[in-house]
Amino acid sequence: MIEEIIERVKLSSKYKDINEKTILEIINIELPKHKNKKSLVKAVKNKLHQIYGAFLNRRDIEKIKSLLLELKRGEKLKKEIISEILQLHQSTRERIGVYEEIYREIFKVTGKPSSIIDLACGLNPFSIPFMNIESPILYYAYDIDSILIETINEFLSILDYQRLAKRKDVLFEDIEDQADICFIFKFLPIAEQIKKGLSLKLLSRVNSEFIIVSFPLKSISGRGKGMLENYSKIFEPILEERHKILERLILENEMFYILIERR
Ligand SMILES: C[S@@+](CC[C@H](N)C(=O)[O-])C[C@H]1O[C@@H](n2cnc3c(N)ncnc32)[C@H](O)[C@@H]1O
Repeated sequence: MIEEIIERVKLSSKYKDINEKTILEIINIELPKHKNKKSLVKAVKNKLHQIYGAFLNRRDIEKIKSLLLELKRGEKLKKEIISEILQLHQSTRERIGVYEEIYREIFKVTGKPSSIIDLACGLNPFSIPFMNIESPILYYAYDIDSILIETINEFLSILDYQRLAKRKDVLFEDIEDQADICFIFKFLPIAEQIKKGLSLKLLSRVNSEFIIVSFPLKSISGRGKGMLENYSKIFEPILEERHKILERLILENEMFYILIERR
């Protein structure tokens, strides 16, 4: 029966490239709440839309592929093409004007890293050139969409970085890699939406000296009132369970926390 539900969800072109483990875990969470297959499939698709479908679409991925070809041919300036890619996703679009400042402020506290893990990365790896890091570092990037991961690996190799992007569900699959810094940008509210308690679990599975967590201060619909108070009230106790907050930064529409593990 579960196999059949997975197949039915994957019939939708929007979800055909998503990690099956993610679909399976969401089915397991939703299963007890539904009496028939039809409403279960609908609920699973709704959850997938909340965690994934609202952010990326196939046309955007095709656009990234063609921009990467332009980048390879060297027809336009690297930062110009990269900004066009970052424009395609709300989270990265909002940061374009402040990306250099974000990384400058983070690295002021952490030092320049030689490795980074970017969890639920979306398009964020395309911002590497804004980090002003001189030579290639190890950049692990995980997300649940295999086509997105292919384009990130393509980009990493254009930059002479190792192809370390992997399709991975960061909530339900192991995170084996280790890095100086771990980014978890705009993802903890999504983890809590899937199941309460998952964000604390995720934080305790990360193996990095520093973790940078961020929260949106404006929702997709543009409303933002009270998000700062809400997120700080809900998430600061979770962040402080195993980590110390070294710094809070507000840049553009986003709140960043720099965390270090308590010893
Ligand atoms: C709001 S976007 C944030 C993207 C990126 N971190 C940023 O801030 O630019 C959420 C991302 O989480 C990814 N995602 C959702 N659930 C996931 C999971 N369980 N494991 C890995 N990635 C996931 C989605 O595909 C999407 O790219």
